[in-house]
Amino acid sequence: MRDRLKKIREEAISNIEVLNNLDGWESLRIKYMGKKGELTLVLREMGNISKEERPIIGALANEIRQQIEGELDKAKDRLIEEIKKQQIEKEKIDITISKHTKKLGHYHPLLHTIKELENLFISMGFSVVDGPEVETVQYNFDALNSPENHPSRDLSDTFYITKDILLRTHTSPVQIRAMKQIKPPLRIVSAGRTFRFDDVDDTHSPMFHQLEGLVIDEKVTMANLMHTIDIFIKKLFGEDMETRFRPHHFPFTEPSAEVDVSCFECKGKGCSVCNGTGWSMELLGCGMVHPKVLENCGIDSERYSGFAFGMGIDRITMVKYGINDIRLLFENDNRFLEQF
Ligand code: DAH
Repeated sequence: MRDRLKKIREEAISNIEVLNNLDGWESLRIKYMGKKGELTLVLREMGNISKEERPIIGALANEIRQQIEGELDKAKDRLIEEIKKQQIEKEKIDITISKHTKKLGHYHPLLHTIKELENLFISMGFSVVDGPEVETVQYNFDALNSPENHPSRDLSDTFYITKDILLRTHTSPVQIRAMKQIKPPLRIVSAGRTFRFDDVDDTHSPMFHQLEGLVIDEKVTMANLMHTIDIFIKKLFGEDMETRFRPHHFPFTEPSAEVDVSCFECKGKGCSVCNGTGWSMELLGCGMVHPKVLENCGIDSERYSGFAFGMGIDRITMVKYGINDIRLLFENDNRFLEQF
């Protein structure tokens, strides 16, 4: 009997040791401690042993019972602890993971510049209007007083779709559309794509971008034009930037001027970038709207006058962001675009 009891103890302890879930624990408890458990069954046979042996066996059985009970208690604690750990592991939240897991898109550097220019002009009382990229020869050249034999009309300079339809070579036709649609006074800007037959290099592209501006009212003068451009340049590039107006010729303005601004590198002192002149050349073209252009749009040139200006957005973007090759703006290389 003694051996059977000891065997039960050995078996129970090794079974309890390898327990790995609470269901298993409960069946072992019943197996050893239950009313019909192995220990109880052995003790029922106590009547068959001698009087002298009975208390010894009784004591041994009690000891074994307590041992098994102790082991079961320990195992239960261990199992509960393990279940808790598993639960915590399962529910673990890594608070160091960034919540910005989605890649968001953003403005192209050109669009950044366009928005900035538009907002600057809006703050000066201008409205933003749009015009088509596919334009008539009439609006792109004729109504703008461009002479029949002007070189820019050449097939080698302009993308013609038909004899009368082309890809606009500048944003100036939007002036015509605005004057035909809106009664003066008017103040508009319009930005967009323009197209010319150009060989591609680091400063030229057959597709580029311009921003056009137009103001028509009574008593508008060249002084208004110069002041507007000066304020605009200072707002865009900084208060320390100067403007210089050089006489020029455009068919749609008279007088016309090209505007230079202080060199972006040396701010006017003279450096290798500006060849020591202190000036960044030809940032924009402008002038007083030619009376013929006003008349072409049905505006009384005796009563109204106006000024217009046009600038290259690509060049401004390149200066602002330190980009040295215009092709980067159009190649859609993410390694470049992600920097903005
Ligand atoms: N359209 C001209 C160009 O593409 C730029 C320009 C010059 C626009 C003078 C104007 C202007 O509105 O008044 O070179």
